[in-house]
Amino acid sequence: MAANYNNAAWFYDRLSRVVYGKALVKAQVYLLQYIQPNSNILIVGGGTGWILEEIARIHPSGLQITYVEVSDKMMLLSQKRNIGNNRITYINKAIENVNGLPDFDVIITPFLFDNFTPQKLEAVFTYLHPLLKSNGLWLNADFQLTGKWWQNMLLKSMLLLFRILCGVESTKLPDFEKLFKQYGYKVVDSKTFFGDFILSKIYKAPSKSPPVGETF
Ligand SMILES: C[S@@+](CC[C@H](N)C(=O)[O-])C[C@H]1O[C@@H](n2cnc3c(N)ncnc32)[C@H](O)[C@@H]1O
Repeated sequence: MAANYNNAAWFYDRLSRVVYGKALVKAQVYLLQYIQPNSNILIVGGGTGWILEEIARIHPSGLQITYVEVSDKMMLLSQKRNIGNNRITYINKAIENVNGLPDFDVIITPFLFDNFTPQKLEAVFTYLHPLLKSNGLWLNADFQLTGKWWQNMLLKSMLLLFRILCGVESTKLPDFEKLFKQYGYKVVDSKTFFGDFILSKIYKAPSKSPPVGETF
């Protein structure tokens, strides 16, 4: 079962601004500079969809966006966003239940992985990985624990709140860094926010070209 943010849709953005100020927004806006014109983009778990307006501010047209969000209330809010002249396909499903997606130049997973158990993370990661083109960019923002006492406390309280309200399954941060390494991703750039608690990272997918000399 995917965590469903229906019960939190109406207050999610306000709550996140109260707790984190502008950090969650800044962490995601920082990633967007890596989107090249005319890219084909997949966004998974975009929440209320404000990121679409930030993307349209940078690229008012030319993008093909696929926007996958499991919560129908979040999706309704997202569909009201100004996307400029970009083309968008909204898919109101859990990403792991979506079939027939094309390949993408960019995948964006903003505060998605912290919702997942390690097993679910691996399933979603191995589903998304083949959808990213050779040398494509995976833009990820999420929490990280760097040893400060308040980070784990804040993380646990958030996960508990969203477990009660939205059925979020995870009780601790799953190790997505390990998967990016294991699948051969290179870190292009990264930045931390909110006293290192939030990490935005740009990963480049490995080249999928066949070894030299190999023919089909
Ligand atoms: C923590 S919220 C983050 C929302 C937004 N990215 C933000 O930062 O404001 C996670 C979002 O991911 C969605 N979500 C969770 N699991 C999902 C899945 N398996 N497929 C698609 N969306 C999912 C939730 O409905 C929720 O809107």
